[in-house]
Amino acid sequence: MCGIIAVTGHANAAQTLMAGLRRLAYRGYDSAGVAVHDGESIARLRAAGALENLASLDPESLSGQCGIGHTRWATHGAPTAENAHPHLSADAAIAVVHNGIIENADALRAELQAEGMTFTSETDTEVLAQALSLAVSRGEALFEAVLALMPRVQGTYGLVALDRAAPDQLVAARLGSPVALGIGGGCRLVASDPAAMVGFADDVLHLDDGDVARLTPDSIAVRSLDTGERTIEATTLTAEVNDAGRDGHAHFMLKELCEQPEAIARTVSGRLDARFGTARLGGLNIQPRDLIAFRGVKLLGCGSAHIAAECGAHLIESLARLPASAEAAAEFRYRNPVIERDLLYVVISQSGETYDTLAACNEIKRKGGTVIGINNVIGSSLARAVDGGIYLHAGPEVSVASTKAWSAMVCALGLLALYLGRVHDLSPSAGASLVKGFEALPEWLEQTYALRPAIREVTPLLTQARSVFFIGRGNAAPVAREGALKLKEIAYIHAEAYPTSELKHGPLALIEPAVPTVVVLPDDELLDKSIASLAEIRARDGKLIVVTDSDDTRIDAAAEAVIRLPKSHAALTPIVLGMGLQLLAYETAVALGREIDRPRNLAKSVTVE
Ligand code: G6P
Repeated sequence: MCGIIAVTGHANAAQTLMAGLRRLAYRGYDSAGVAVHDGESIARLRAAGALENLASLDPESLSGQCGIGHTRWATHGAPTAENAHPHLSADAAIAVVHNGIIENADALRAELQAEGMTFTSETDTEVLAQALSLAVSRGEALFEAVLALMPRVQGTYGLVALDRAAPDQLVAARLGSPVALGIGGGCRLVASDPAAMVGFADDVLHLDDGDVARLTPDSIAVRSLDTGERTIEATTLTAEVNDAGRDGHAHFMLKELCEQPEAIARTVSGRLDARFGTARLGGLNIQPRDLIAFRGVKLLGCGSAHIAAECGAHLIESLARLPASAEAAAEFRYRNPVIERDLLYVVISQSGETYDTLAACNEIKRKGGTVIGINNVIGSSLARAVDGGIYLHAGPEVSVASTKAWSAMVCALGLLALYLGRVHDLSPSAGASLVKGFEALPEWLEQTYALRPAIREVTPLLTQARSVFFIGRGNAAPVAREGALKLKEIAYIHAEAYPTSELKHGPLALIEPAVPTVVVLPDDELLDKSIASLAEIRARDGKLIVVTDSDDTRIDAAAEAVIRLPKSHAALTPIVLGMGLQLLAYETAVALGREIDRPRNLAKSVTVE
């Protein structure tokens, strides 16, 4: 989603801005721009589409040491060059880049129009630029103007503004959208994602909601709208960068699929206790005597993280025998949820910046609940907001469609379920068997990846499809949902997921040869029942693709294609079968010639509601 990079004190600001924008590109964007102060005035370049379009305008020819840059993911207004950021005030005195949504932009615009100001774009951000230029034209310094404007703005923002009258100054502000400040040798930076500043900054400071900062090449001053002047402690910048490229892989998604075994090995590394058949999760910051008091678990996330939460709920109920349920974070936060003292809340997010997940976390905290995080990005907003948690250590994920991070989320939830289980009634031997399963998991995933050529052969059944059903029962039901989501996201094929048992209550009406069904079929106690459902689909001329770890020959007799994956531990089949579905979606999208890493209309990190 939208990304911000800004620098003051760098010999060629535009060069730094372009490097930062390239680092931010993976989040998803549809236009980009930069503005640089040359000592006298602010020059700006913007382009719709890929960053190469902006690069072809030769931004590095803009001389100046202070500038702001932005990748935009359209919310207000189409993805055109006119709507791209930075936005300039009509008098060219103020330039602004902004992430988030200003909900009362129309009201503010009307006020400014009444003052005689005119607008050139449809964006909410231009309203900020115009409002700030009006204040500055009346003699206010930009820092004070931002402090005065922010309480009048409803919505969310992470923003940086440039002032023509202050050639080496940046003013940044945050409410609900991440803003980090960087300290480098002779320069100061601002970015929505610390990874954009790697190589330019050594230390990083994170703004909190309500903070406004003023930066010059050798100083940073921060004032909070709530508490006034404040000091933020700087920490060493340790963000991981995605500069490594695709390492020879055709797509980032393929690279990340290939990296999955080592990613999972890192998720479990140091967290298994073979002697007591349990997990070591020091980062939870909850002692077993406190953990045992929780009577249930509520798991929250968005998109794939929400589906991982559903897998986690199954794992926790079956291993720890605690009631557990998953819910979409955005729905949870808006239903004025009852927060219970004896529920453990788990918020799940790869990026740690998803707005709705962060808002759900804050709602729980406001109401006194205990909330832990499952998160990939160290030092992200969510990681800093929770009481404790489990880092995935999956490494940077660039592809919009989540692969290794989804598997790592389910894996981390499995570790949590094991730990909770051993605090409750899970026997030491059952715990020890699962520990062995976690140890073997990277190898099972390696074997799954090796099946790629066989999976590719199945894709003609899907590329021709008008629509696809994904079905599964028990812990395979959420895996089927993730499989359908992946196919929609990157292959643009309509896909719907149902619990296998629900098929005959409606969807069966749509089964026909052009609507194949992908069956997620673990070798568990429901296998016989699921095989019976296959017959119901066959009887309606439905085509079946079965993704399974069972070697039951009845499956081969019923199905058009069988993707046979390694047999693993019962609790870990969602991860193995899930990876099979990721590969299936990937190969199908490749066969259709889709743009795998940047699917249309989607963003990697959704930092707005
Ligand atoms: C976006 C992405 C999804 C992702 C979701 C949650 O919608 O396109 O792939 O699952 O955000 O992201 P998070 O970073 O919170 O896991």
